[in-house]
Amino acid sequence: MQSIYLDHAATTPVHPEVLEAMLPYFSRHYGNPSSLHAFGRETKIAISRARDEIAQLLGCSPAEWMFTGSGTESDNTALFGAAARYGREGKRHMITTKVEHHAVLHACAQLEEQGYDVTYLPVDTTGRVRLEDVEAALQPDTFLISVMYGNNEVGTLQPIRDIGALARERGILFHVDAVQALGSIDLKLSELPVDLMSFSAHKLYGPKGVGGLYVSKAVTIAPYLFGGSQERKRRAGTENVPGIVGFAKAVQLAVAGRSEKVDALEQKREVFLTGLTEELGPEGFVINGHLEERLPHIVNLSFPGTDTDTMLMNLDLNGIAASSGSACTSGSLELSHVLQAMGLSDELTRSAIRFSFGNVNDLQQLQEASRRIGTILRRVRNK
Ligand SMILES: Cc1ncc(COP(=O)(O)O)c(C=O)c1O
Repeated sequence: MQSIYLDHAATTPVHPEVLEAMLPYFSRHYGNPSSLHAFGRETKIAISRARDEIAQLLGCSPAEWMFTGSGTESDNTALFGAAARYGREGKRHMITTKVEHHAVLHACAQLEEQGYDVTYLPVDTTGRVRLEDVEAALQPDTFLISVMYGNNEVGTLQPIRDIGALARERGILFHVDAVQALGSIDLKLSELPVDLMSFSAHKLYGPKGVGGLYVSKAVTIAPYLFGGSQERKRRAGTENVPGIVGFAKAVQLAVAGRSEKVDALEQKREVFLTGLTEELGPEGFVINGHLEERLPHIVNLSFPGTDTDTMLMNLDLNGIAASSGSACTSGSLELSHVLQAMGLSDELTRSAIRFSFGNVNDLQQLQEASRRIGTILRRVRNK
């Protein structure tokens, strides 16, 4: 049976051109970029070239781009870095949403333990935050608003420009987790009302274990890691040179064919959903999330009459890799905080599956996936 990978929001395979760009930096060019000799200079130049390239592709200046060890580290650096910087001025209040990735939510919980005050904004039934709610949550000592670009479980996009404009007007820092958005959204950082933006290479056919954080030149945040003076003293630690080189290549590939890739993803989604409708009828599943304001590669579906655990197990047995989109603790699935925040019924929350498409899928695979899902559901629902 052919395996069908529909979990690109979890991670993507490294693109062959990315791998090719990285390989020499594992063995041939191995100097420590902080070393003053020729070996070190060589890898230092490679990092600098990668930074210049990403900055140019995403519309910021190289000094505004920091390499990190993951999307999680970028989010943590933004939040803890802003808190440490503004906490010193006596500011204690931050705003985020109930549907952020745990890299933001768990960092916020930690900050609350340190005495910061966090407002978690509600979302509507499609997963979108309302600007009025952001405005109503502002306090005199609010120093940061953190809202994700596109949600990793349901794909819903947030009104980033409007929230950013409000943050600018009030002189409040704005952080955006764009880990799922890079590659799908046309990003020109200098034109966005955003101060901090998080990225991760492995979501766009780059390697795991390397992230990026945009820090606008207009702002300073306190360092999060201490030690050496890498990344302009903002992130201590010997750089992941192959990862950084691979990240730059991945961004280059992602930006180059973006609109064609988005069209292809839309077509894959369409074929998948049409196939499922033919198999199950229009009542056989429910689409969770916003139908227009959304990322192209993620579709979250609930299958009433089943549960997420059973479905995931059956999908796996039938060669389909998908995800619940939510955390898995001690072998059992936690209910999704995103779907709960959207106010979905218990039945829909407990039967949701996230499918996410990418380069490795062709249309025939999506037709085949919908057929296999149809067969699974007929069996499970008839039990
Ligand atoms: C929206 C979002 N933020 C942050 C992360 C964390 O990124 P990383 O896996 O690089 O730590 C993820 C990963 O799933 C994500 O989807």
